[in-house]
Amino acid sequence: MSVLIKNGNIVTATDNYVADILIEGETIVAIGQIAASQVLPTTEIIDATGLLVMPGGIDPHVHLEMPFMGTFSSDTYETGTRAALFGGTTTVIDFILQKQGSSLQAALDEWKSRSTNNAVGDYSFHMAVTDFNENTKKEIRHFIEEEGITSFKTFMAYKGALMIDDRQMVDLMLEVKKHGGLINVHATNGDMIDFLIAKHKAEGKMAPLYHYLSQPEVTEAEASGRFADLANYTGCPGYIVHLTCEGALNAVRNATRRNQKVFVETCIQYLVLDASLYENDFEGAKWVMSPPLREKKDQATLWAGINQGLVQVVATDHCPFMWEQKLMGKNDFSKIPNGHPAIENRMELLFSEGVSKGRISLNKYVEVASTNAAKIFGMFPKKGTIAIGSDADIVLFHPTEKHTLSASTHHMNVDYSGYEGWEITGKVKTVLLRGKVAIGNNECKVEKGYGQFIKRNKVAGKI
Ligand code: URP
Ligand code: ZN
Ligand code: ZN
Repeated sequence: MSVLIKNGNIVTATDNYVADILIEGETIVAIGQIAASQVLPTTEIIDATGLLVMPGGIDPHVHLEMPFMGTFSSDTYETGTRAALFGGTTTVIDFILQKQGSSLQAALDEWKSRSTNNAVGDYSFHMAVTDFNENTKKEIRHFIEEEGITSFKTFMAYKGALMIDDRQMVDLMLEVKKHGGLINVHATNGDMIDFLIAKHKAEGKMAPLYHYLSQPEVTEAEASGRFADLANYTGCPGYIVHLTCEGALNAVRNATRRNQKVFVETCIQYLVLDASLYENDFEGAKWVMSPPLREKKDQATLWAGINQGLVQVVATDHCPFMWEQKLMGKNDFSKIPNGHPAIENRMELLFSEGVSKGRISLNKYVEVASTNAAKIFGMFPKKGTIAIGSDADIVLFHPTEKHTLSASTHHMNVDYSGYEGWEITGKVKTVLLRGKVAIGNNECKVEKGYGQFIKRNKVAGKI
């Protein structure tokens, strides 16, 4: 099977030029001026005149069918990866959660039982280590060397369920470093947050606003700085997930002054939404996530951080819950399942708010939406770029077409949108995943099971 994409404006993290792309099977085999007469008559020809042709998006922070806070996130591997494809994201990295008292292997088996043969788009796993002990320690090498799972997530919050202490963190960092892996972290001060939650509840303050007020900026700034210190001490590559605010980014900025590199991910919602949404009484539950939305000054910090190279990745932390699930916390904000849907919206929102509004360049867009995640997490150049030999994961994007986001038209398995009615400039038109047209004419053309598990390489801690 071969495909020829003609006359597109190819954009990578470094280049921007008009050329044709020839795909044989799953990979790109030629880029240049390729006439239709030079290819087999059976070759499918796609006219990309006037369109941007970019590497498929990579979202390295999603939670599909995740057991969490007494329920499951509502997108399955099928619905979540399909929605991702509609939005131009061809590969996602999901989080496996170890159960405290159990093994990493048992957690992997559980996640495989939900994902195998069910994904529509490509996926990989981070392993969240929630109980690091002598048994877990013995499993780390196997995950990196044999399973292709080279990143290990840690939680500095959610005490009693997911949080590990600093003693475990240091021990884990040393082990992960030894075998060529990376630590990702949810960096907020869990003890301080638990104190503030209990205090607000004791005062009868039960609305979603108090979720926000229980996680002030200092809880994130402190934990981000502490994580950077521990990573610096151990020499382990570190990656802070869903960083939201000025104080936390300044902790990372400070770390650069001792020549340290800490990778930073923010999420699309922290760039475009702010905490005023929590003032709408229970409606604010739609945006109850951890960390919470922040202030306008934090949005400015994050956009600047992208341009300064301090923030390398824009992900989603996609963790959708139906409205009925959010209602579990109707009378108690601490029972609202934390998370927000965005897997389908990330690429278009980032383009519209970032590129169209002149906040970031086109090359930076590709870098933070795809290339850097591939590099940081050991998938480059198979994923994350348009080059000969790379997987033909390609998005054809109309840069000026306008459309409106709505739960009535999205493909995520969730009955509201965090962006209802938003007018967007720029639209995903066609998506290829490993050489196959996966999205075209607003339809998904591939079945569940087409999505492959992507084994990842060891990480360098550099990009
Ligand atoms: O609110 C969030 N972020 N839910 C998903 C779990 C996590 O902390 O990433
Ligand atoms: Zn988190
Ligand atoms: Zn998350």
